[in-house]
Amino acid sequence: MLLIFFSWFMVCSCKHESPSINHIKTFNHQIPIIPAPGVVELKEDKVSFLKKLVFFPFPGNSYVASLIGKMGSITSDSSKANVISHFDSTLVAESYVLDISDKFISIRAADASGLQYALTSLAQLIEYRGMSLPIVHIEDSPKFKYRGMHLDVARHFFNVDEVKKYLDYMAYYKFNNFHWHLTDDQGWRIEILKYPKLQEVAASRKETLVGHYNDEPHRYDGQKYEGYYTQEEIRDVVAYAMKRNINVIPEIEMPGHAQAALAAYPELGCGKASYEVATDWGVFGNVFCPNEVTFKFLEDVIDEVITLFPGKYIHIGGDECPKDTWRKSAFCQQLMKDNKIKDEHGLQSYFISRMEKYINSKGKQIVGWDEIMEGGLAPNATVMSWRGMEGGLEAARQNHDVIMTPGSHCYFDHYQADSDDEPLAIGGLTALEKVYSWEPIPEALEADKKKYILGGQANLWTEYIDKYSKVEYMAYAREIAMSEALWSRRKDYKDFLIRYEMHNDAWKSKGVNIANHLYQVKPKISAGNGKPVTLSFLGPEGMVIDLSSDSGTETIKSNEEFNVIRSGKYSYSSKINNHKGRTSDIFFNLHKGTTASIKLAVEASEKYPGNGAGSLVNGVLGSSQKYGGAEWLGFEGSDCVAVLDFGQSIILKEVKFRFFKGEGQWIYLPRSIEVFTSYDGKSFKSITSTQKISSDTKIAGINIPLNGANTQFLKIKIANYGKIPQGAAGAGHKAWLFVDEIEIN
Ligand code: ACM
Repeated sequence: MLLIFFSWFMVCSCKHESPSINHIKTFNHQIPIIPAPGVVELKEDKVSFLKKLVFFPFPGNSYVASLIGKMGSITSDSSKANVISHFDSTLVAESYVLDISDKFISIRAADASGLQYALTSLAQLIEYRGMSLPIVHIEDSPKFKYRGMHLDVARHFFNVDEVKKYLDYMAYYKFNNFHWHLTDDQGWRIEILKYPKLQEVAASRKETLVGHYNDEPHRYDGQKYEGYYTQEEIRDVVAYAMKRNINVIPEIEMPGHAQAALAAYPELGCGKASYEVATDWGVFGNVFCPNEVTFKFLEDVIDEVITLFPGKYIHIGGDECPKDTWRKSAFCQQLMKDNKIKDEHGLQSYFISRMEKYINSKGKQIVGWDEIMEGGLAPNATVMSWRGMEGGLEAARQNHDVIMTPGSHCYFDHYQADSDDEPLAIGGLTALEKVYSWEPIPEALEADKKKYILGGQANLWTEYIDKYSKVEYMAYAREIAMSEALWSRRKDYKDFLIRYEMHNDAWKSKGVNIANHLYQVKPKISAGNGKPVTLSFLGPEGMVIDLSSDSGTETIKSNEEFNVIRSGKYSYSSKINNHKGRTSDIFFNLHKGTTASIKLAVEASEKYPGNGAGSLVNGVLGSSQKYGGAEWLGFEGSDCVAVLDFGQSIILKEVKFRFFKGEGQWIYLPRSIEVFTSYDGKSFKSITSTQKISSDTKIAGINIPLNGANTQFLKIKIANYGKIPQGAAGAGHKAWLFVDEIEIN
């Protein structure tokens, strides 16, 4: 509906250009809108006289009505209104212009999305400033037309109300695509009427892995886990999303991640009599067989899916499809011969292209993960680039649309902080600033191909996210940063943080389990240079840290060094701008090595450098759960050879070692340890060695007596295990050696 507009409006006849960078002023707390609008012209010293907002009938649906209901009332008498809107077809899609003057608010919107976004921006101003509204002219439009959030409901299921919460949060931050990952090895979650066993069999698993996949041996909870959406519920969610101008993209995984479907209909696999819905995580070899039964099944599924989802995209997965089953299948080999397909990647391409043809014939387009490029890209496919940006770069060069979602910046199942008390996550570290700094268009992409990058998306895989409060914890903070990365042309992390704090505090006060790691400082421990160990805290200027130990409490500035001269517990918490971070502890166990200088013959791998060689003697133990971080040093195939200089001759009782063992992750205990002494640091004498190094647990502690050896230098040679044996994960590769503290007494 086009609304009447009033005389104080002039609609320009020119096509509205994207807001230009030059107009932008510093705004932060005065305009606490996230994502930051393109153009903000602010009369800094004035606020509007508006106290109660009265909206003249707005076009729109119940969602628009609910936004308005939170801000004011609606009247059908234009003379009583002080907020008016109208559509302006000269504006670019999804954009709006919001003017707040002394007594009126006017909104010009390109379309329903633009109107919603204008109201959302106004609602945020009111939420964070109350009715002390700025006098401001805002012009806003998105940098990218695709701004997505993904949710995996296969590994863990989230009910309709929870999915609606997810959509509400997306709408508040101007996301416009919801990628709903509905099927996987661990569960099929969308009702398909023609195939009732998808509901009866594929929607439940008999139990679920407990703890991390890398923890050996695997343990299970013994509890049946089930759930699926009826078609009525799907329609309800899709309608709910549409009211928020969010398009829903269903993902039906093929040809891999299909084990749940195979458990229901084994004839869709390549020959096994039966399958079980997966109870743990990972990549499974039980994939769809490219036979006619499978294609008929998938076409039937697609027929039902397209009646539920009005958007143009159907996501067909395509990722992580191991080819072993196809390699061993006489049927697949014959099919490849008959169709002159050269290898199994070609067979995957055949599979995807055939499904694409079917989906295209129904007037829809496919999206697939970047593996769909292997063996040749289906002609009209949109590529979702997750294994980095390279797949997307290549697809754009082939004139295919691309949605960027690289694991490095867009996987919100990764840790967001590296402290030990973070809830269990899959791994990795993708902190807020990293998300914020992300640029979806690769620099290497030629200018005329940039248009193929539609935008980006954050993914929430839920192997380790079993309840909605953990969805909030893992996704909500980083989603705020992602919204600005995808919407705002101007980015400034410092400015963003001021607005982010306001948003984060508000969600917290509403009881939302949003994470906040802003005030959590990162301790830095320096050692190994012949001086006392120092402790400092990396943080922004203006931050102070309260540091308590048995000796009392001191307040130090961020980046200032503190000498640690006593063993014991040190508790620290940071303060900045009236915000206090949570309190964390570090335990120091000082020993004769902590004031020695240490040199490594070969540095640790740059993937796991710890904080340099000093980490081995700084008196602090690395995590007993995870390798990596500032304490553990990882050596890929090489030995760890360290020479310590105590500055003078001293008498030594013993040396203790701490190693990480995780053979599933290619991490092996050393083959041997040998210790040498020297008075001059040049000629060394071997004094003891051991080859008895074993452990039943992840952390191996090994003590070697030195029997009162008198020496200034100590050389320690820790021999890498070498090549990983046959039959083990990573067979034939170099083993990793992970060393933490070398404690010398
Ligand atoms: C993916 O993360 N397997 C797309």
